Amino acid sequence: MQISKESGSHYERIGGEPKVRALVQRFYQLMDELPEAHGVRKMHAASLKGSEDKLFMFLSGWMNGPQLFVQKFGHPRLRQRHLPFAIGDAERDQWMLCMKQALQDVVEDEALRKELIEAIGKVADFMRNKA
Ligand code: HEM
Repeated sequence: MQISKESGSHYERIGGEPKVRALVQRFYQLMDELPEAHGVRKMHAASLKGSEDKLFMFLSGWMNGPQLFVQKFGHPRLRQRHLPFAIGDAERDQWMLCMKQALQDVVEDEALRKELIEAIGKVADFMRNKA
């Protein structure tokens, strides 16, 4: 049976572990380099390696691939984990700027890109904790 392009999890459609890794790597590279993202960059540690590993593990499960983050750290409680950082519209926008550009650079499938931008955008909206 022919499987249509739209079937399968986001994890499968993006191209599994190597692509999720590449996306997260590009995301933090952009956060490090883009002057427009300086506000969110400086909330993070000098080295972004730890953040990169955690976001990779989280997105793997969130895209319906292996639940790496949950296996290692338990329930993500993502909003709670972000409470120590003051996140408003500006911070959300800076974070999403890097994610949109990373998706553009790493994911060829335009329909998938759009779905992911919308879905990750909802998570980013939910992380806001200040007016
Ligand atoms: C909306 C703007 C956001 C800002 C400013 C932000 C900022 C941060 C900062 C400063 C950290 C701590 C550094 C670290 O431990 O890596 C962090 C951790 C994390 N962020 Fe975000 N984040 C945002 C949105 C998101 C979104 C949308 C996701 C998921 C799609 C996400 C996933 C994570 C994960 C998995 C961690 C590690 C949590 C832990 O185990 O402590 N973040 N974030």
